[in-house]
Amino acid sequence: MALLNPDYAKLKAGYLFPEIGRRVSKFASENPQAKIIRLGIGDVTEPLPPAVVAAMHTAVDELAVRSSFRGYGPEQGYDFLRQAIVDNDFKARGCDIAIDEVFVSDGSKCDTGNILEIFGAGNTVAIIDPVYPVYVDTNVMAGRTGAADESGRYEGLVYIPVTAENNFVPALPDRPVDLIYLCYPNNPTGMVATREELTKWVNYARANDAIILFDAAYEAFITDPAIPHSIYEIPGARDCAIEFRSFSKTAGFTGVRCAFTVVPKTVMAKTPSGEKQPLHPLWNRRHTTKFNGVSYPVQRGAEAVYSPEGKQQVKALVNFYLTNAKLLCEALRSLGVNVFGGVNAPYVWMQTPGGEASWSFFDKLLSKAHLVGTPGSGFGAAGEGYFRLSAFNSRENVEEAIARLKTMLG
Ligand code: MLT
Repeated sequence: MALLNPDYAKLKAGYLFPEIGRRVSKFASENPQAKIIRLGIGDVTEPLPPAVVAAMHTAVDELAVRSSFRGYGPEQGYDFLRQAIVDNDFKARGCDIAIDEVFVSDGSKCDTGNILEIFGAGNTVAIIDPVYPVYVDTNVMAGRTGAADESGRYEGLVYIPVTAENNFVPALPDRPVDLIYLCYPNNPTGMVATREELTKWVNYARANDAIILFDAAYEAFITDPAIPHSIYEIPGARDCAIEFRSFSKTAGFTGVRCAFTVVPKTVMAKTPSGEKQPLHPLWNRRHTTKFNGVSYPVQRGAEAVYSPEGKQQVKALVNFYLTNAKLLCEALRSLGVNVFGGVNAPYVWMQTPGGEASWSFFDKLLSKAHLVGTPGSGFGAAGEGYFRLSAFNSRENVEEAIARLKTMLG
């Protein structure tokens, strides 16, 4: 009989968001009259920017005609999109990234998981706690951890807690690590890293031959001009960082699917015999072997994000969600709740009133106010006692959610 991957047996419960979905579905079927408002998973609600829609329509029309029809595209993405990415996301910010260092994909969730394939099993991994659960679960699946303890922490991972006590600023690891996941603006806390903070990490990585896996999926939400949008704005990051970007939250692509990963040719790792080699050819090999590229209309849609109209429309979309976040923060503060994030990110991170356990608060919010959020403990042990509200929703729903929060907590 075939052998299954025993590492999957180490995974705690279900993946966070399906687990929330399961609880919400159960509640909805038992309470069919309840008008549930979902501020749980960060899923966009507003339509695609018109410039994106127009570009996708045109691309579909091209595919309808023999003379402009296209089959397989380049696995790494069409040059028109990769060039737009390089020019707008990197050159414009003074970052030296070449077009063939950009790999277009169907999502940062997949990329942050898949990247592990090009790293050896023996790497020690540092995780900020709380954290986007994909980083942890994919390392468990890859066999890079032991079992989980009571709090859900896996043996073998190096957890770096961030809480209100340390102002959500992670300390450098207290033992040698090889891979470090950083996500800024942060999911789930909504906090950002200053240039000095990021410099600290880049210097650490270079001094210790570590690699930073930098998830910048929420960079479009940065409002503070002093905050870097890319790790490559930090001198030396080209030697030690891989960056993940996504059109999902920026341009409403959660259902459309388009993202990209930047692997500079200067990022090196060691062979078993100790020889330094670039990771770029490995990722290129993996990508071209296992992926056939993002569809042409979607890549044209993504390219339109960088057009003058696209930029304006994306800005308006981002501002719309940021206003939701601001309204949520203001309302919670007026209720005496400690609130973080929500200024440079679409997530509001709150301490549960009275220090209630995260899942208990989740159940109470669902049953009393018919509101869905995400329990902080679902993002890691240090998230216990916290709760995340997503600002991705219509204004009407956010206002209604605020009214219900005031009734419940006021
Ligand atoms: C979240 O809610 O944390 C995100 O939507 C999850 C994701 O982007 O995969």
